[in-house]
Amino acid sequence: MSEEQLNGNPEMELVVEPEVKEKKSKSEMKMEKLTIQDLPGVGAATAEKLESAGYRDLMAVAVATLGELIETTGVSEAVARKMINAARDSMKMGFETGMDILKKRELVFKITTGSENFDTLMGGGFETGAITECFGEFGSGKTQIGHILAVNTLKEDPTAEVVYIDTENTFRPERITQLAEGIGLDPTEALQRIMVAKAYNSDHQMLLVEKVDGLIVEQGKKIKLLVIDSLTSHFRAEYIGRGTLAERQQKLNRHMHTLAKVGNTHNLCVYVTNQVMAKPDQFFGDPTTSIGGHIVAHASTFRIYLRKGRKGSRVAKLIDAPNLPDAECCFEVQEQGLRDIN
Ligand code: GTP
Ligand code: MG
Repeated sequence: MSEEQLNGNPEMELVVEPEVKEKKSKSEMKMEKLTIQDLPGVGAATAEKLESAGYRDLMAVAVATLGELIETTGVSEAVARKMINAARDSMKMGFETGMDILKKRELVFKITTGSENFDTLMGGGFETGAITECFGEFGSGKTQIGHILAVNTLKEDPTAEVVYIDTENTFRPERITQLAEGIGLDPTEALQRIMVAKAYNSDHQMLLVEKVDGLIVEQGKKIKLLVIDSLTSHFRAEYIGRGTLAERQQKLNRHMHTLAKVGNTHNLCVYVTNQVMAKPDQFFGDPTTSIGGHIVAHASTFRIYLRKGRKGSRVAKLIDAPNLPDAECCFEVQEQGLRDIN
């Protein structure tokens, strides 16, 4: 029966529709492939609200808090609780064997920085499946590292692509050209394999990151590196003063969660840059601290503090890594990329 016939006959529609609906939800249940729309209390309008707020799948609902869902959708607490519980019931929550994780770890690869010292500091390079954060003062090399990782990713895997989210308007195609030539990569091809998006504010930035999943799953792009330069500048500019700090941190937390998820699910390297600010109450040691506090610090798998050294050199200090010792190395930013200083 054609769709037209169905629609033209209200009686038929009444008879047919519930049957179809029931069949669909049963088979879907079996396959544990529910969508957000199948959750109790979620109609089209609520689903739309959820999706536009970035809740794209059941996992997002399953790990959401009651408050977040109520705020996003305007449903009652009871309904929000039902939604969360149903989402949790519908999925296998989390347990993997150590063997599963070891197998996943075997898929991890490392992107070279071009500097042997820096690679060694990082246990071979910047890891996929993880978030690496570089923070440091202006001119310390954060943006340069983003450009360098991009071309090196493309060089190492001829089918890989890069997503570059630029919040400070510092992405430079000319620099990519220069670096690509330096490692024997066709500059035009390199530029074609880097997708750049300018984020105009923190919401836009969050949305762009949420779209990366779609690029991979729906458009079949093999994205192996996601750069956000800078992670925190919009958040810092938009939320000023103590009153708004909690709200900012909550949003940053969600953002970091999305980043971790996309990195982990698709085994891609997430590289984020972060600024430092003065610590007014610090009299000894380093008087600066990174933006975003514990939320960003905890969510980043690897954290590197960059500073300017003597005679134009740069010092990278690994300050947090799951399986590497804290250490330092020295390098230089040159025309062709990073080079060691011994
Ligand atoms: P902010 O974004 O301002 O916080 O700084 P950043 O940490 O991103 O600094 P960035 O990566 O932009 O580093 C800039 C530094 O890299 C410059 O001061 C130069 O020393 C160096 N640099 C950039 N491009 C080149 C280049 O083509 N050749 C050489 N030799 N050095 C370069
Ligand atoms: Mg920069």
